[in-house]
Amino acid sequence: MPESVLYDEIGRGYAGRRRPDPRIHAALAAALGGARSVLNVGAGSGSYEPDGPVVVAAEPSAVMIAQRPPGSAPAVQSRAEALPFADADFDAVLAVLTLHHWTDRAGGLAECARVARERVVLLTWDAAAGGFWLVQDYLPEFLELDRRQFPAMEEYAAMLGTRVEISTVPIPRDCVDGFLGAYWARPEAYLDARVRSSISSFARLDTRRGLARLRADLVSGAWHDRHGHLLETDALDVGYRIVTAHLPDAHGGGAAGAWVP
Ligand SMILES: C[S@@+](CC[C@H](N)C(=O)[O-])C[C@H]1O[C@@H](n2cnc3c(N)ncnc32)[C@H](O)[C@@H]1O
Repeated sequence: MPESVLYDEIGRGYAGRRRPDPRIHAALAAALGGARSVLNVGAGSGSYEPDGPVVVAAEPSAVMIAQRPPGSAPAVQSRAEALPFADADFDAVLAVLTLHHWTDRAGGLAECARVARERVVLLTWDAAAGGFWLVQDYLPEFLELDRRQFPAMEEYAAMLGTRVEISTVPIPRDCVDGFLGAYWARPEAYLDARVRSSISSFARLDTRRGLARLRADLVSGAWHDRHGHLLETDALDVGYRIVTAHLPDAHGGGAAGAWVP
């Protein structure tokens, strides 16, 4: 099923549970540097759009666009693989937890680099980091799926055609957002169907057996015996990374981002 259709199916109620976490927002704002114009690709309902710059959103799902708050940046219904913008139209492109959904990841990243003048900033996940207890002990099929869907860190420089910087994004124990790794310190949350409904991996695979084991381990105390020590930690590296691609000076010829809403 094309991803825009997936989010037309599972996207209802997304904006209520997938709210931006202020600490991740700050890390992404820092990575965007002094960009004066930003294209947010795979923008969903608008999480993590920066406050200062002129922002335009690119998003294929009408259901997601409809959840953008009133007054938010204009959205153009489009896919990463075919961005309807001119070369170097924006100072920066932002893409948050979206590229694993693209049908052509290399093509989409090449498009991001084409329409950006200075940098491309991605929030993504590093399969080599191994995930955390949920996918290691209960849902290893998620790890397998994500290893197929998320590019390895070494692949970004080639796909974006330039130097990249990679930084770890530790996830706070009380993360406000609701992506897969957000609830590492709140195991009961994964038993809540409303929480799961805003995490796309749960829409792709049958997780009933793994979740039944989690439920049993929470009741028996086995989860706390194995992982309770984590509850003393404020933030944990569960594999999320910011990838910042610095585009070469020659790219775009130095013109300011030209897109006007
Ligand atoms: C997990 S959501 C992330 C949304 C938002 N960036 C956020 O952080 O809340 C993934 C988004 O990627 C979008 N998407 C799926 N396929 C896409 C594609 N080919 N190009 C751009 N966005 C796509 C989905 O419609 C969905 O809104």
